[in-house]
Amino acid sequence: MSDSEGVSSPVTLRMSQGGPAMEGNFWEQVGGRPTFERLVREFYRGVASDPPLLAIYPEEDLEPAIQRLTGFLEQYWGGPTTYSDTHGHPRLRMRHAPFKVNPAQRDRWLTHMRAAVDSSSCRPSRTRPCGHTWSARRTRW
Ligand code: HEM
Repeated sequence: MSDSEGVSSPVTLRMSQGGPAMEGNFWEQVGGRPTFERLVREFYRGVASDPPLLAIYPEEDLEPAIQRLTGFLEQYWGGPTTYSDTHGHPRLRMRHAPFKVNPAQRDRWLTHMRAAVDSSSCRPSRTRPCGHTWSARRTRW
C-alpha cells in the first residue's frame, strides 16, 4: 500500500480512497481477538487437513503462522497494531514471494478461508454480514 493511496504505515486499512470503509470499529463489532483467532484456527485446521496445500507451508508447527495471520487480520480490521509493531509493515507480496503457489493451491486456500469465514461468528451488529463485507472489498495488499 503506497502513500499515494492514502494509507501510511502501520497499515490498519480501514480507510478506503473514498473515506471510511465502514462505520465504527469492525474488529470490536465482531468480537475482537477471540473471533479472529477462532477464524484463523479454523482456516489452519483446513490447511492442515489438505496435504497439497500444506506442502507450501515452511514450518511443521503451524502455531507461529496462526499467530501471524491472526495479528495481521486483527490489525487490518481495526484492532491492535501488534502485527506491525512486531514484524514491521506487512509487505505481503514480498513475504509471499518465496512460495510457489499453483492455481489448485490458490483455490484450496480460498476454499478453506471461505469455509472459516462462513463458520465464524463474524456478524457485525451495525453492518452487513462479514462474508458479504469481505467479498465486497477491493483493497490491494
Ligand atoms: C493463494 C493464497 C495464499 C497462499 C497460498 C498463502 C500462503 C502463505 C504461506 C505459505 C505463508 C507462510 C506461513 C507463515 O509462516 O506465516 C503465508 C503467510 C502469511 N500470509 Fe498468506 N497466502 C495466501 C494468501 C494470503 C492472503 C489473501 C493474505 C491476507 C489476508 C495472507 C496473509 C498472510 C500473512 C499475514 C502471513 C504471515 C506473514 C509474515 O508475517 O511472515 N495470505 N501465506
